[in-house]
Amino acid sequence: MIKPNEYVKDLIPYVPGKPVEELERELGIRDAIKIASNENPLGPSRLAISAVEEVLNKVNRYPDGDTFYLKHKLAERLNVKPENLIFGNGSNEVIEIVARTFMKTGDEAVIGEFAFIVFPIVTQAVGAKANMSPMPELTNNLRDMYSRITSKTKAVFIANPNNPTGTMVTRDELEWFLDRVPGNIIVVVDEAYFDYVDDPDYPNSLNYLNLGKSIVTVRTFSKIYGLAGLRLGYGVSSEEIVSYMNRVREPFNVNSLAQVAAFAALDDKEHVTKSREINRIGLKYLTKELKKFNLPFAPSYTNFILMDLGSDPIPVYNALLWEGVIVRPVLNYGLKTHIRVTIGLPEENERFIRAIKKVLGL
Ligand SMILES: Cc1ncc(COP(=O)(O)O)c(C=O)c1O
Repeated sequence: MIKPNEYVKDLIPYVPGKPVEELERELGIRDAIKIASNENPLGPSRLAISAVEEVLNKVNRYPDGDTFYLKHKLAERLNVKPENLIFGNGSNEVIEIVARTFMKTGDEAVIGEFAFIVFPIVTQAVGAKANMSPMPELTNNLRDMYSRITSKTKAVFIANPNNPTGTMVTRDELEWFLDRVPGNIIVVVDEAYFDYVDDPDYPNSLNYLNLGKSIVTVRTFSKIYGLAGLRLGYGVSSEEIVSYMNRVREPFNVNSLAQVAAFAALDDKEHVTKSREINRIGLKYLTKELKKFNLPFAPSYTNFILMDLGSDPIPVYNALLWEGVIVRPVLNYGLKTHIRVTIGLPEENERFIRAIKKVLGL
């Protein structure tokens, strides 16, 4: 009988949000909306679409394994060297490469209790152990995380803002942590939602790149750039760390369509500004409505809101499906009474509020 590695047997697979087509097929309904995967409701940039169309007839060729043009353009934009950048098939892959490069059986990683679930998955997948830091306030507690560092710790994972809670750590909190963390421990700061944050206390972890610590900043084109389906994320770190990660990275891990789409999307400032604005308005509207109906939620700094329903969320989730609204239960995170709702277009937000009021009898 085939036997996987012991630690792989116990892994719980990642559960993605339900696709609209699947829901419509299963329930025989139409015009469903998906506000479940923190995607950009505006769609991709027109510039990105045109760029993809232009290279479609060249997909018989392998992509540029070095992501050369995008790497140079992004390096200039971020004011780093091209050698500081590594690209992945989504930022998920960059996170996985960190784990495969720096952790092995017997090692430990410090991770928040309700942190992005890919962190414990990639940790366990290489046989290392996740040392989970409690998050009673639904925010990463960097003091507690620091106290969990042992001689076995190889990495600390911090998503800022965090998914699924939507909460952030402040500049003071991050600097307190970085001042103390030993330089031989990789600190992953996952800033997938960087462009949505509108708070003066939010730290840009790229500012600490030359601090002599081992920080890997992780970002993505899946969120504000609206390219989730093409899969492209990146890491920014010291040349040394990037060079180790590149040894583990598979050749041609970033497809050619994603490379040109991201290259073009970087020029579409209007699309980014509009996406940020639509999100700001939607976040304000949703929080106002939720407060009106006394529905508790975690403070959100990003493009989704974690609501606490106070009871089993599955009946509410299912009833919302019948209303054609797909949200995300987060039981797999150990959040037993919550749902996560992505901020959509104004009409989608209004539809969600109408549906949740109906389902909860408000
Ligand atoms: C915190 C965080 N990091 C990383 C990702 C992965 O994004 P991708 O692999 O699409 O770049 C997500 C996706 O939801 C996320 O919420």
